[in-house]
Amino acid sequence: MGKNFIGLDTEKTEQLANALNDLLSNYQIFYMNVRGYHWNIKGDNFFELHVKFEELYNDLLLKIDEIAERVLTLGHRPSHAYSTYIEKSEVPERKDVSDGKVAMENIVESFAKLIRKQRELLSLAGDADDEGTVALMSDYISQQEKTVWMYRSYLGQ
Ligand SMILES: [Fe+2]
Repeated sequence: MGKNFIGLDTEKTEQLANALNDLLSNYQIFYMNVRGYHWNIKGDNFFELHVKFEELYNDLLLKIDEIAERVLTLGHRPSHAYSTYIEKSEVPERKDVSDGKVAMENIVESFAKLIRKQRELLSLAGDADDEGTVALMSDYISQQEKTVWMYRSYLGQ
């Protein structure tokens, strides 16, 4: 089995890069959904949620860049076309959501998908001895599990 320039198995690294690109597509669609919530939200909780959603999409944007640069670090090319994101994302596009509760529920649902994908990636990266990807996924999972708890508490769940 061949090793690449950072000592990782070439085939496993390609598999990891594909999985990271798949994750990236989901983040990009999720990111744009959350921007939509930030813009379109209406009602009593406008000021609270408008700010909360901005905080969330800024965090997603940071992670989008980290995931893409991890793909590059592994020697592959990050997906960078909307057509690819739409084709690959399991998180669906959400349009015209103005109800805060619906937005919050969509966010919890999207996080559940991301967390599941990141757990799969964590195991794949562990198997490839790719500590960099393991650390990244591990951070995302623990942060987002906590976020889900807080969003669900807000929803009274
Ligand atoms: Fe804004």
